[in-house]
Amino acid sequence: MVQFKLLELFIKNEYSLAGLYKIYAGKFPKFKDFWSDLTSDEISHAYMIEGFYSDVQKGNILFSSERFEEEPIEMVINHIQEKKVETQKKDITIKDALSVALEIESEMIEEKCFDVFWEIPEELKDVFHKIKKETLEHRDKVKKTLDNLA
Ligand SMILES: [Fe+2]
Repeated sequence: MVQFKLLELFIKNEYSLAGLYKIYAGKFPKFKDFWSDLTSDEISHAYMIEGFYSDVQKGNILFSSERFEEEPIEMVINHIQEKKVETQKKDITIKDALSVALEIESEMIEEKCFDVFWEIPEELKDVFHKIKKETLEHRDKVKKTLDNLA
């Protein structure tokens, strides 16, 4: 079975995070560039997975794996959603926003969302590899910015 649903979740995850960072970019003018850069990175991650997804749909890539896990990525999506709601409900500080970003970027690494333990096409391996690398960079960048606030 082709894992459309799982790929859709991965795409949704990137757009959700882009959406959260976009809210932060609007909320914290002094940090607008910082959040906008992160937003574009997350959108580019979504595009990368979409590219793979469309090749699978066109039948250019045969992709079947029963061993893909939906749970970790669903957890991250829910976490992002929760934080979006929170942002609408209460006044958050830049420190809160950076802490949330650090939590989410770290969660994707800790939950091994982009680690490959199963048979998947090389193209998807490359995509996951690149997203993981940039997620680690995001985590470090967010942490540095947070540390500099103190
Ligand atoms: Fe990220």
